Amino acid sequence: MPRFRTLDDLDVAGKRVLVRADLNVPVKDGKVTDATRIERLVPTIANLADRGAKVVVMSHFGRPKGVDPSQSLRDLVEPMSHAIGRPVHFAPDCIGPEAKRVVDGLKRGEVALLENLRFHKGEEANDAQFAGALAELGDLYVDDAFSAAHRAHASIEALAHLLPAAAGRNMQAELDALGSALENPQRPVMALVGGAKVSTKLDLLNFMTGKVDKLAIGGAMANTFLFAQGKPVGRSLCERDLADTARSILASAARSGCEIILPDDAVTADELKPGVVTRTVGVNAVPMNAMILDIGPQSVESISGALAASKTLVWNGPVGAFETAPFDRGTVAIAKKVAELTKAGKLMSVAGGGDTVAALAAAGVTDDLTYVSTAGGAFLEWLEGRELPGVAALAIK
Ligand code: 3PG
Ligand code: MG
Repeated sequence: MPRFRTLDDLDVAGKRVLVRADLNVPVKDGKVTDATRIERLVPTIANLADRGAKVVVMSHFGRPKGVDPSQSLRDLVEPMSHAIGRPVHFAPDCIGPEAKRVVDGLKRGEVALLENLRFHKGEEANDAQFAGALAELGDLYVDDAFSAAHRAHASIEALAHLLPAAAGRNMQAELDALGSALENPQRPVMALVGGAKVSTKLDLLNFMTGKVDKLAIGGAMANTFLFAQGKPVGRSLCERDLADTARSILASAARSGCEIILPDDAVTADELKPGVVTRTVGVNAVPMNAMILDIGPQSVESISGALAASKTLVWNGPVGAFETAPFDRGTVAIAKKVAELTKAGKLMSVAGGGDTVAALAAAGVTDDLTYVSTAGGAFLEWLEGRELPGVAALAIK
């Protein structure tokens, strides 16, 4: 991992500090439905404001094509102000005279939020001129948006080279957690990967087999591996054309001494519907007209055993169709085991990715893991071993 500056390395008193946040939070009918990303900004904003900085927060929201009032960040002023316990000024543009007027009006310890960065094309184009216009609004730059670090956009990449740059507390926490899980982990280290498709996680699986001691695979993507081993998968979701790929992942795991854990049994049904009649069968006995919708109790046992024998866990993706009861049981049982081992100090656990976070919340254990990332795409790219532009841009050369 590259070395980077933190808030502790900046002299911020009286300075305008541009903070790149990720306020791309879920909103329904104008109300924020999950404020986690806002709450995780509080340490950075509070630290800067308490030290007398003029804090200028900027973020993208949604994927607007040009100016689009329905994707304004104005709705986030109130929730942000509530979270940080201070008033938040709003600038109706993120560059130019309107932004400048609001920033110039800030006193030490005050906070402003700029309008959606993606209202300008230059943001996603990583445009130097747009980055220059943002840089005019600050003396220092802090990136606290790990969850957007996989985007080489102007406020993340180009801007980091124009002002003295540092990682905010949230960025730091994400990098520390991911670093201690994958760069220098306590071994044995285990990865648990679930989700629907092997095709979306090929790079991740290939990278993981070279990194971890054990890799447990669940969710519909496990069906592709079972099929590749000649097992019957009935009408299950399965990427049959990836059987060769699955076999080569198994072979490369064997070469690098990574133990692969596949389900031994499965909860099946004729359709994916709440309360449908289910049958739990061994993976050699899946009926022709049935679908595999969750891992069975023996698989929960074997994954739990592997977890108990591990010191570090990286988790991405549910092991069953957890949004539909009773196919949430496998994921919930594993989540509870991870929580129990973590609370007992036996396991350092890091989880991330949208579905994973929702599954942990449904199991009621979010706070019991060592670290739960707020990142989706950035978390996945990290697990693929890729360099994230937003992290690379902060590196001290
Ligand atoms: C996210 O929510 O994953 C980040 O904010 C990135 O958003 P994007 O996928 O629209 O770039
Ligand atoms: Mg996204």
